[in-house]
Amino acid sequence: MPKKKCILDFYEMKKRGEKITFLTAYDFPTAQFAEAAGLDMLLVGDSLGMCVYGYPGTIPVVMDQMIYHAEAVRRGAPHTFVIGDMPFMSYQSSLEKAVENAGRFLKECSCDAIKLEGGVRVVPQIKAIVDAGIVVMGHVGLTPQSSGQLGGHKAQGRTAETAKLVVEDALAVQEAGAQMILLEAIPPEVGKYITDNLDIPVLSIGAGSYCDGQLLIVSDAIGQFKAFTPKFVKQYSNVSEVAINAMKAYVAEVKAGEFPKTEHCYTMIAGEEEKFLKMMKNT
Ligand code: KIV
Repeated sequence: MPKKKCILDFYEMKKRGEKITFLTAYDFPTAQFAEAAGLDMLLVGDSLGMCVYGYPGTIPVVMDQMIYHAEAVRRGAPHTFVIGDMPFMSYQSSLEKAVENAGRFLKECSCDAIKLEGGVRVVPQIKAIVDAGIVVMGHVGLTPQSSGQLGGHKAQGRTAETAKLVVEDALAVQEAGAQMILLEAIPPEVGKYITDNLDIPVLSIGAGSYCDGQLLIVSDAIGQFKAFTPKFVKQYSNVSEVAINAMKAYVAEVKAGEFPKTEHCYTMIAGEEEKFLKMMKNT
């Protein structure tokens, strides 16, 4: 089992140009798969609102849900760097609340870091959480929790003017003390500019191949979540098809009386069947 990575390892990886591999995970078995596959880091993302709970977006997700899932992920991937994602309204309303909720991921789930959405406007929250001794990953570009303000889940930074705003957000996040940043749904040219101009590791979800590492939502990557598929997704497997086919085969075998077979049944201890039948006859 390779040694668990820490933030310094990710700085080293950026320096030597080794790509950082990053997936979301929401539960114990998926975390076990991810650790077995050798992922560098895992995000317990508030995307679990859609992928696990079937909500239309991430807004309804609350801190306690994040904590339950982060605990399970930590148990499944004890040797992997795990990041807890701050859900909507867990950090916006006050700095005290932001620090307290960020701390819960470390105290209750042994997470290694937290992630929160926003650039310039969450600088005070990033500073406060960093001052509490917590590793912070920023998240700029498309920020799903404020997608209402962005007019939906749309790519950001596609004009020179808006690209400059994304760069300003990224610089503000680094300046505030965040030790990693995630760029979501921006053109690769903007991803490259930010990666070249920031000292901290820059992760991409839909920000092109030049960034220091790549993130995908695990449910998209393995073909489990089919409600919608963003442009940046590559599906590496078709778990929903595998699962549906397995369930159809089960239904067919039960209906046909083909399951269970003898090998799926327990045997009575020798001589007990006769005794049992006799006993039942006498009752
Ligand atoms: O919650 C999540 O998985 C995320 C990604 C969309 C970046 O924040």
